[in-house]
Amino acid sequence: MGKIEGEWKEMDKKLRASIRLQAEEWIFEAGEMIRNKMSNPFIIDTKTNKNDLVTEVDKKTEKFFAEKVKETYPSHLLLGEEGYGDKVNNLDGTTWIIDPIDGTTNFVHLKKDFAISIGIYHDGIGEIGLVYDVMNDIIYSATKGGGAYKNKKKLSLLSKEKTINKSIFSFNHDLLIDDDHFDRNIIESFVREIRDTRTIGSAALEIVNVAEGNFDGYVSKVLSPWDVAAGYVILNEVGGVITRSNGEEVNMLEKGTIISSNAILHEKIIDNYFKKWCS
Ligand code: 2AM
Ligand code: CA
Repeated sequence: MGKIEGEWKEMDKKLRASIRLQAEEWIFEAGEMIRNKMSNPFIIDTKTNKNDLVTEVDKKTEKFFAEKVKETYPSHLLLGEEGYGDKVNNLDGTTWIIDPIDGTTNFVHLKKDFAISIGIYHDGIGEIGLVYDVMNDIIYSATKGGGAYKNKKKLSLLSKEKTINKSIFSFNHDLLIDDDHFDRNIIESFVREIRDTRTIGSAALEIVNVAEGNFDGYVSKVLSPWDVAAGYVILNEVGGVITRSNGEEVNMLEKGTIISSNAILHEKIIDNYFKKWCS
């Protein structure tokens, strides 16, 4: 006999809570491994270009998660940056979208300001988002409908700023020369209008800083699903909006540009700047 709807919901919530706890445990374990490796030399390679770095630590960390997930949840799939996961063609069932080190350039050069990012999606819906700032030992977490947290403190601090010229946006400076996706003149007039810009160099940390209200928004060049999957769930929980730079919804299986902020600023900057000019 089939279960009644209420029972399924209860089961799903319990299962989600236990998956979240398990994922957090693995994140802390992986974070400890990364911190222990910081003082030893590690091999650094480049991928697509000179600023696209990968280290043995990125690879080992993703392998760690891939093995844990397969062992504990054999039916779950894993979509990861370094390729130790599965070939994921759709988001049916449960999929872990993982960036073992988001901000590898920071990891290599600054030895801080990088994160482990895990978004867990069920049938295409972002259910769990975890962003772990490894060197500061801060975990940003959220479950769909369950609120967002910075460690144990509930986040409700998304910026209420409504005026573009009082707002601070974070983005990488290379946005100014990304002629494939952004028009330089539009970016220039946007930068001239906003109060100031900031850059962290880790998309996941940038998005949680929007969720926390430190930045009024974040604009990015083309990012991959693992850069945004966790931040997406966290930002949604504080009422933030996150879309492509032309306002389209983010498809978690595709790469694309990102704009995130509160709903009022988001609409204004898409309409005033990005919609017509960016892809
Ligand atoms: P990564 O460190 O995991 O590569 C920094 O600019 C942000 O952009 C980081 O979140 C970084 O993620 C991401 N990014 C995505 N594609 C990139 C690329 N080809 N080169 C450098 N950073 C990239
Ligand atoms: Ca990465």
